[in-house]
Amino acid sequence: MEQNQRIIDTEQLQALFDIGQVINSIAQKQPLLEKVMDIATEAIRADRGFLMLKDESNGNLNVEVARNMSEGQADDIAKPSSSVINKVFKETKPLLLHNALTDPRFSGSESIILQKITAVTCVPLILKGVSIGVIYLDSAANRQEFTESTMNFIQAIANQAAIAIENARLLEELQYENRLLQSELQRTYGFPEIIGTSARMQEVFDIMRKILSSDISVLLQGESGTGKELVARAVHYNGHRKDKPFVAQFCGNLSESLLESELFGHKKGSFTGAISDKRGLFEIADGGTFFLDEIADISPTIQAKLLRVLQEGNFRRVGDTEDRHADIRIISATNKNLSSEVEGGNFREDLYYRLNVITITMPPLRERRSDIPVLVDHFLKKIAEKHNQKPKRISSEVMKTLAQYHWPGNVRELENTVERAVVLAGDNIISQSDLLIPQVEDSKTKTRNLKEQEKEIVLRTLEECEGNKTRTAEILGVSLRWLHYKLSEWNIGKNRGNQDS
Ligand SMILES: Nc1ncnc2c1ncn2[C@@H]1O[C@H](COP(=O)(O)OP(=O)(O)OP(=O)(O)O)[C@@H](O)[C@H]1O
Ligand SMILES: [Mg+2]
Repeated sequence: MEQNQRIIDTEQLQALFDIGQVINSIAQKQPLLEKVMDIATEAIRADRGFLMLKDESNGNLNVEVARNMSEGQADDIAKPSSSVINKVFKETKPLLLHNALTDPRFSGSESIILQKITAVTCVPLILKGVSIGVIYLDSAANRQEFTESTMNFIQAIANQAAIAIENARLLEELQYENRLLQSELQRTYGFPEIIGTSARMQEVFDIMRKILSSDISVLLQGESGTGKELVARAVHYNGHRKDKPFVAQFCGNLSESLLESELFGHKKGSFTGAISDKRGLFEIADGGTFFLDEIADISPTIQAKLLRVLQEGNFRRVGDTEDRHADIRIISATNKNLSSEVEGGNFREDLYYRLNVITITMPPLRERRSDIPVLVDHFLKKIAEKHNQKPKRISSEVMKTLAQYHWPGNVRELENTVERAVVLAGDNIISQSDLLIPQVEDSKTKTRNLKEQEKEIVLRTLEECEGNKTRTAEILGVSLRWLHYKLSEWNIGKNRGNQDS
C-alpha cells in the first residue's frame, strides 16, 4: 500500500481526506456502502459497478450495492468472472483490465458482451490484511480514466471504506447485543426469575399477582439478601406501569439534605452547591414506580414530605415555592421491623400506614430450605450463560451441605457461594472444598434455644406438607389454633397489610 499511496497525486490525497471524513461519519452499513460506491464510480468515471462483501456464515461473496446495473446483472458478471473477482479477493491485490471483451476470464458473461465492456478495475476491501469484499467497476466508453494511478486511488478509498464498514458492523452487533440484553433484563424482572417453589414463596407470588394491576403502596420486609428489590422490580415490570420508569433510591445512611434534593430536586441557589435547578427523582419517576429502599432510616422532615407525596401526589423542590405533582406508585423496603420503629417513636405512624397498605414479608432462606436446590441450579445456569459454557455439575452431597447451612446472608450469600465454587472448581465438578462455608456440623451443633428449635421444626414440617396447616398440626400433634397462633407470632401467613400488622 505504501507504494500505491506514493503514486497518488496531491489533488487525490485531498480528495481522499475529504472522502475519509464523509465515510467515517456514516454509522449505518447500507448508506455507507451506497456512499462508497458513489465515490468510487465517480472517481474513475465508471459506467457501472458493484460492491461485494463476504458473508461470514458461508464464506460467499454477495452483491451488496450495484450502480447503473441490476443486482442480476452484477451476479451475471460476478459468476463468469469469478476467477477475476476471486483472484483480487484472495490475493488482496487490485486488478486493471483494458480488454475485458477478449479476456478469457470474462468469457460467457452476457453483461460484458451486451454492454461491450472493455475497461475493468477491481479492488479488494482489506481489513487487517484480510479481504472482506471487493469493489468492481467497469466502462464501455470511457477507458482513459482506467489507469494505474486511478486504480490505486480507488484502492486507497477501499482501505478507508473497509475500516468504516467494520465499524458499522461492530455497531450493528452492539445494537443487536443490546436488544438481547434488554429482553434478558425484561425476563429477569418477570416472576420466572424469582426462584422458589416453597409454600412460603408461593404465598409471596400470590400477593404479588393480586397487587400487580393496582397502584397501592407496598412495604417489603425481610432480612438482607432475601430478594426485596427483586420483588419490587417484578411488581413494576409486570404491572401496567411497566413502560414508565422504575426509579430506586437507597435512603439508608444518606444525609438529610442530600436525600431531600435527590428525591424532590432543588432550586438554583437554595443551598451552597445548588448551581442550577435540578429535577428530583419523583419528577423523573412520574407515571412509574418509586422504590424507596431502607425506608426506616429517613429523617422526620423527609417523612413529612413523603407523607404529602403519598397523600396528594404533591411535593416541592428544595428552596422552591411552587408545588409539583407526580403520579407515582410507591414500593418501600426495610430489613428493620417498621412497626417497632413506630412504637419507638422513630417513624411516623401516619406515614407507616400509607406505605404499608400491603406488606410482603420475604422469608429468610433458612425457612424455605426446599428452595435451595432450585436456586443453586438457577445460579449454575445463570453463571454458565454468562460465560457461554455448560452449567457445572454439583454432587448430591454438596447440595445437601448447601441445603443444611443456615445462610445468614440469604439468597445473595448463596449466589456468591455458588459463583465462587464454580471458579474454584475449575474444570472439575463442584466439591465440598469449593464451598468455603462453615461445615454443616456448625449449624447442627450450634446451640439454639427451645424457641428457635420449635420454630425450625414447625416450619420444616409445614414445608414438607406444602403449606397444608391441618396436616402440619396433625403430624406435630398440636391444635390448628396453636399452629395459627405460632405462625402469626412469627409473622408468617399474614402477608396482608396494615389491618394485621
Ligand atoms: N427468589 C430469588 N430467586 C433468584 N434470585 C434471587 C432471589 N432472591 C434473591 N435473589 C438474588 O439475590 C440477590 C439479593 O437480592 P435483593 O437485592 O433483591 O435482596 P434485598 O432483600 O433487596 O437485600 P438488601 O436488604 O441487602 O438490599 C440478588 O442478586 C437477587 O437477584
Ligand atoms: Mg435491597
